[in-house]
Amino acid sequence: MTSKRQKLSLVAEAQTLCELPLYPGTLGPDVIDVQALYQATGLFTYDPGFSSTASCRSAITYIDGDAGVLLYRGYPIEQLAEHCRFLEVCYLILHGELPDPDPLRAFERNITLHTMVHDQLSNFFKGFRRDAHPMAILVGVVGALSAFYHEALDIRSGRDREMSAIRLIAKVPTIVAMCHKYSTGMPFMYPQNRLGYVENFLYMMHATPCDEYRPNPVLVNALDRILILHADHEQNASTSTVRLSGSSGANPYACVSAGIACLWGAAHGGANESVLNMLEEIGDVSRIPAYIARAKDRNDPFRLMGFGHRVYKNYDPRARLMRSTCHEVLNELDLHDDRLFALALELERIALEDDYFIGRKLYPNVDFYSGIVLHALGIPTKLFTALFAMGRTVGWIAHWAEMISDPEHRIGRPRQLYTGPARRDVPAGHRRTR
Ligand code: CMC
Repeated sequence: MTSKRQKLSLVAEAQTLCELPLYPGTLGPDVIDVQALYQATGLFTYDPGFSSTASCRSAITYIDGDAGVLLYRGYPIEQLAEHCRFLEVCYLILHGELPDPDPLRAFERNITLHTMVHDQLSNFFKGFRRDAHPMAILVGVVGALSAFYHEALDIRSGRDREMSAIRLIAKVPTIVAMCHKYSTGMPFMYPQNRLGYVENFLYMMHATPCDEYRPNPVLVNALDRILILHADHEQNASTSTVRLSGSSGANPYACVSAGIACLWGAAHGGANESVLNMLEEIGDVSRIPAYIARAKDRNDPFRLMGFGHRVYKNYDPRARLMRSTCHEVLNELDLHDDRLFALALELERIALEDDYFIGRKLYPNVDFYSGIVLHALGIPTKLFTALFAMGRTVGWIAHWAEMISDPEHRIGRPRQLYTGPARRDVPAGHRRTR
């Protein structure tokens, strides 16, 4: 980093222990560079959960959690969701600028030409039970992609990194649709090069060899927007997992597979599935107060799924957009009276008037409404998090590539505050003679 602005002195008992450089970013808080702290003082910093730690520098995404702002490469999420298509946003996230028509066409063509998976990959599915969770299959099959592309796995080559990005963005939807077909016992559908990215995904999901499938443009638009809203979210748990895995030199398919595993957790991407299950469990508006009471009870592990965020202490801007997408989709499908949507609106209204949620700044997050839209689009609940992964793949791979191309990058190796036993000897009763 070259933009050194000033230093912070660490003083103990009137003695300066060390001087730590402060760096400003384009937006957001300055950071204190503590890299020299251990060598100068013998001290570590302690920040489990990384509430106050910038783990890297990045030029991809910016979030102002207090103001409810989300920017991809500087562009507000609202404008991207309104005016751009998902593949344009992918290009933006990967390359830093919105593409002109020619590069965009070339990019889209390149993605289209890589949507098919190697025929041998289909065999992997047979190793899974039909009722396996799609995220379990996705972790395995995406990781297995690394076995198919030995010729383009040199992580130091920009061309190979770009190829991996294209392959992952192109193939993850095919694999997600295959997960669905496998679980329902239906034949896999090959991608169709005549279709756009989202249409093609819906085709692979819903078409069968016996049935023609024509995607509804309003629904295609809605899914395209959902993917834009999920495309990146700076150093969240799964992206940090991808970065940490990649810091050792691991290949991009293995790293993205690790990201998918992390995303599956209910506190992260798994929340969209949990929201729908929660709404089904609540079942009726009259039962909402009981569930709100459970969410507030410290002795009850139940949390209001789709509420709260580590960074947003304001309405998640993605949730606002998702809410309006929800209206559009339900209107298009003539489902204005959708039971789950009515329940979600009422749950949101009650929670936002409750002192517990107000005091803790707990607002709906992106997952609160996404499940209802995906449900309306005919996506099975168990597949929701896999669709989150489909949108987030571009973010994961962009962060991985940004890290690998940073000349300052080193293997990630956090330290710890050790709280186990001090050194001790194996007792006589446990000693064996070898
Ligand atoms: N319902 C009830 N109470 C909550 C909730 C919730 N959903 N979220 C946080 N709280 C309470 C929590 O109990 C704590 O209360 P207290 O101060 O009395 O101990 C306080 O709010 C702060 O919570 P925290 O757990 O310290 O906050 P965190 O930043 O560690 O956790 C979170 C963030 C998203 C994991 C959490 O809000 C949560 O579990 N939400 C539900 C799951 C969810 O919707 N996840 C999707 C996140 S958005 C999509 C994504 O990026 O993956």
